[in-house]
This record gives sequence, structure tokens and C-alpha cells, in this order.
Amino acid sequence: MAGLEALRADTARSTGGDYSDALIICDRLVRIYSAEGIEVQALQGLDLAISRGELTAIVGASGSGKSTLMNILAGLDAPTAGVVRVAGHDLGSMSARQRLLYRRSVVGFIWQQTSRNLLPYLTGLQNVQLPLRLAGASRSVRRSRSHELLEVLGVAHCGRRRPDQMSGGEQQRISISVALAGSPSLLLADEPTGELDSETAASVFGALQTANSELGVTVLVVTHDAEVSGMVRRVIAIRDGRTSTETLRTDSDGSGQGHSVEYAVLDRFGRLQLPHDMTDTLGMRDRVRLEAKPDHIGVWPDHSAIPPASSTPLSGSDAESTASDTQPGQIEEANGSSTPVPGEADR
Ligand SMILES: Nc1ncnc2c1ncn2[C@@H]1O[C@H](COP(=O)(O)OP(=O)(O)OP(=O)(O)O)[C@@H](O)[C@H]1O
Ligand SMILES: [Mg+2]
Repeated sequence: MAGLEALRADTARSTGGDYSDALIICDRLVRIYSAEGIEVQALQGLDLAISRGELTAIVGASGSGKSTLMNILAGLDAPTAGVVRVAGHDLGSMSARQRLLYRRSVVGFIWQQTSRNLLPYLTGLQNVQLPLRLAGASRSVRRSRSHELLEVLGVAHCGRRRPDQMSGGEQQRISISVALAGSPSLLLADEPTGELDSETAASVFGALQTANSELGVTVLVVTHDAEVSGMVRRVIAIRDGRTSTETLRTDSDGSGQGHSVEYAVLDRFGRLQLPHDMTDTLGMRDRVRLEAKPDHIGVWPDHSAIPPASSTPLSGSDAESTASDTQPGQIEEANGSSTPVPGEADR
């Protein structure tokens, strides 16, 4: 568990915050599938920390490991190596019985396929009441909780309908109610809007936001939908089985105002992935040249003919126009802090 402690310390240091708030911690998570003698490394040392109360989107190309991660967090699959903890439960060392209890009380899960989330011969209310019945809740608790959830998620009118009498969006909002029935700490949704048109997808995503804001549940949602990922504060990109970049937005109410900043994830060994669209433009491959500056690190292509100054992130004229109202040699960053202009720092 030394690795886990180090991850806690690292994250506390990098966020400057209180890390006891973390609901999910993945530390160098590995999942290797063996099929017909061929090994597939679906997760290759993935690190992740999610605080309680966050609504986070996971994006990434097909095959990058998103569903593998979600299945592990849901207690449906176990990691090959590494540490994964959710709400204090060590998912790598749980017995089958503990895993069952975990799935019933700590996490709720929503699949992409609406048909997989609901029993077709039960009504909306009966579907929501089923997990409560399995958990031994009294009749009155089952009734009040199921009515309350359908009300909050805007599908009270579907209470007495079977799934085939509901639209795809209504089925998914009932599915969210089912997943929330046992009052889980964490709601996981693997492409819940993948089968829906964009308007319906927005309403289902709105239901996830409601679950997060009104009921306080932490939500992790996998999506291919750029519009959906544009509506959350934090978007984590997975590439080749590892977290690669994160985008943080100041605007999380979907109004389109505010700004977003993309960060590369830096692990405790100092490894980071540079996005392909940035490296391809500059012809970076195999190796890059680094230069330490007082406040940043410069990364240049390995073209000895190109002097560093010509490929710094801001040219002198850019810097001047951006910095018209600031101190000489500084640019005002969007977050209000002042940073010396690269190339100016050592004057
Ligand atoms: N049960 C399995 N057996 C063997 N290989 C698997 C299994 N499940 C997933 N994989 C492989 O692991 C890798 C990651 O798969 P995963 O389903 O996590 O991707 P994903 O990011 O969810 O993709 P998509 O966006 O298409 O849903 C892929 O190469 C996939 O083929
Ligand atoms: Mg998937």
C-alpha cells in the first residue's frame, strides 16, 4: 500500500487540497485480458483520483480501456495488478460476497443498452423497487423512495408503464432511478446516451446532473458525445489504457461562458503523454529536447537546426499584445495569475 500512500501524497501536493475527500483512487491499475493465447493490455498502469461530489466525464478512442475501467469500478471485473479503492473498499482483494454487497450498496451502474438496465415485464416503479426489495427495504420505504426518484428525475409519468411503453430517454432516466435506488455513493454510466439522438441525450445527461446536484451522488460518465463532455467541469481522456489529459472548465452549467484549460496528466515518475495533435504539428517523435526555466519546462522537437526561441509557446509579439496591461516580461493568465513570458525569464 506504499504506492497508494504515495499517490495520496502526490495528489494532495498537486491539488493543494485535502485528499481525504477522494472517493475513487486508482494507482497503477493494470488489466490484461488473455484471449486465444493473445494478451491484450486494456489498462496499462492507470492513475486516477476522483473527489466526492464530482461529476466527471471520461473520453477516449474505441479500445482505449474506458469500459474496462468502469467494469472494475463497478465490481464486475477485477484488476490484474495495481490498487483500486472506492469509498474505502479495496476492490482488488474483495471476496465474492463482499463484491456482491459492494455492488448492491456502494455503486449504481447504467449500461449503454437501455434493454440491459431494465426488466421488460416490470413497470418503471417495479423496476426501481426491485433492488430495494433485494436489500430488504420495507414496503413503505420501497414505495416512497421509488416515487421520490421518479419525481426527481422527471419520469413520474412512466411509473406504471413497462419499458416498451417508454421512449429511449425515459428508459434511461428510469435506469438512473434504478441505479440510485440503493443510495449508492458512486453512479457509473458507460455511454448512457450512446443509443440516443442529441436532444434525448441532453435530457438523460441532465438527469445525471440532477442526481449529482440534488442527491449528492458522485457521477462518472463515459461518453463519445462532445456536447455531453462539454457540459461537465472535468473531462479525463484515456489513451492506451492510461489517463493522458484532463480538461478543467470554470463554467460547469453548460452556458458556454467561461473557459477551459487542458492539462497533461503527470504521474509520480514524471511521465506525461503529449497529445498527438500537438506533437504531430511540430514533427515531434522518438525524442524531444527539454530546457528547464525558472517557471516552466520548454519542450522542442529534436531538430538541432531550429533554435529554441523560434518555437517557444509565445513569440515576442504575441507576448506583447497579450501582455499590454501587465508588467513587462509577463503575461496575464486566464486564471488571473501572472507568468513570465517564456524566453523573457532569463533576461
Ligand atoms: N473480455 C475481453 N477479452 C479480451 N479482450 C478484451 C475484453 N474486453 C475488452 N478487451 C480489449 O481491451 C481493450 C479495451 O477495451 P474496452 O472495452 O475497455 O475499450 P473502450 O474504451 O470501452 O472502447 P469503446 O469506446 O469501443 O467502448 C480493447 O482492445 C478490447 O478489445
Ligand atoms: Mg466501451
